[in-house]
Amino acid sequence: MHLPDYREARTRDKRKYNRVHFSLDQNIEKKYVGKTYFVKTYGCQMNEHDSENICAMLEALGFSKATRYVDADLVLLNTCSIRENAHNKAFGMLGRLKHLKGEKKDLLIGLCGCMAQEKSVVDEILKDYKFVDFVFGTHNLYQLPTIIDRAVEEQKQQIEVFSREGDLVEGYPVIRSNSYKAFVNIIYGCDKFCTYCIVPYTRGRERSRKKEDILKEVEMLIQDGYKEVTLLGQNVNAYGKDLYEDYNMGDLLEDIAKLEIPRIRFMTSHPWDFTDKMIEVIGKYPNIMPSVHLPVQSGSSRILKLMGRRYTRESYLELFHKIKETVPGVCISTDIIVGFPGETEEDFQETLSLVEECRYDNAFTFIFSKREGTPACRLEDQTPLEEKEERLQRLNDVVNQYFLENNKKLEGTTLKVLVEGTSLKKNMYYGYSETNKLINFTSEKELFCGDIVDVEIESAKTWSLDGKCV
Ligand code: 5AD
Ligand code: SF4
Repeated sequence: MHLPDYREARTRDKRKYNRVHFSLDQNIEKKYVGKTYFVKTYGCQMNEHDSENICAMLEALGFSKATRYVDADLVLLNTCSIRENAHNKAFGMLGRLKHLKGEKKDLLIGLCGCMAQEKSVVDEILKDYKFVDFVFGTHNLYQLPTIIDRAVEEQKQQIEVFSREGDLVEGYPVIRSNSYKAFVNIIYGCDKFCTYCIVPYTRGRERSRKKEDILKEVEMLIQDGYKEVTLLGQNVNAYGKDLYEDYNMGDLLEDIAKLEIPRIRFMTSHPWDFTDKMIEVIGKYPNIMPSVHLPVQSGSSRILKLMGRRYTRESYLELFHKIKETVPGVCISTDIIVGFPGETEEDFQETLSLVEECRYDNAFTFIFSKREGTPACRLEDQTPLEEKEERLQRLNDVVNQYFLENNKKLEGTTLKVLVEGTSLKKNMYYGYSETNKLINFTSEKELFCGDIVDVEIESAKTWSLDGKCV
């Protein structure tokens, strides 16, 4: 048994990590043919992509996919810790699974992902969730096959969570949930330690994949007909810093752009590491999508300091405008937290005025959620929940107004759209524009997912646009 520990998780050093290739123990390959699995994923794209590896490992063991969790022989929750409601959702699901196990004694239940890295969660599972068969963390995903097999063979709860990152594993099997757009990890972990954020503890220190491995993966995706890649990392801008003297995110973006995949996206950028070279490269290559997610979190420099964000309102705005001026037609989205401990009405007003200046194309807004073990969890927080909820509502009213205003400007223009699916109505399709806007549109001729087509925009809504294929 290995239990997670935040003190250890917090440590950072220059220790070399090994790069190893995933391999499956031949003795258990296809051992579970005839059994079915269901993976429930919470949280970010990183987790979604981990689940694509998880599904492939389960299928290598012989499991096949069930469409409903109630029908599966194995249910695995790939969890998220970012806010309390993600926590609560996973525990709610565990409650339903307990009930199901009452009826299906052989049901295997597992928990992995970020919540597995939290000591308090694992303690709770040890104490009150004895029906959970196995738990493993983000650092030992590669052990999933052997952990499951041990849970079955030993009929004993398996808790295997490493507090610290270990080897960087290449060559995971993958079953992509999509045949025309794909996630590609470029860097794992985060060293920023924003005071509210659990991620540096659950995902470990920043570790970049080798550029050759990334480029090879993208080349293979191109050969397989993929049209879009999203480069993933908790902070993609830190790419390469741990690995190379003079090769960073701007260089990687440029090398991937030269491979000529039609669409390149990347998530998430911390404003701190956003270099001029990156801005220049994004502006230069038409296959790097003019869509940047640039979380601001707050418009008040005082609160930004308490959050440990390493930039001020002014330096953020400078970067924001530089991106806007250099990248033609760029759309910028953001994340904002309201109700950080100590946030006053004046601080909040600064967030509103920053939003008024930036007129974001999209924004994800949250109420501060206390995460155990983070520095902000210990700060005195006097703002009542009702007031935070009211601030969130006021903020949402303002951001929504700009989404609509920006979308209205697109009426009458023609946008390139990657077709992602059909609607229930005849001849109706949907997809995303280069700037990541959801477009619902009609087409006289039949289209297929993965096609890139021109759509004339007829009318704008707050969260989507309507048009017709031309
Ligand atoms: N409370 C509320 N929101 C948070 N986020 C991260 N941690 C917290 C927290 N403790 C938000 C940030 C981040 C996004 C992914 O989630 O805005 O950018
Ligand atoms: Fe959630 Fe963050 Fe973990 Fe993603 S990295 S699953 S957002 S806690």
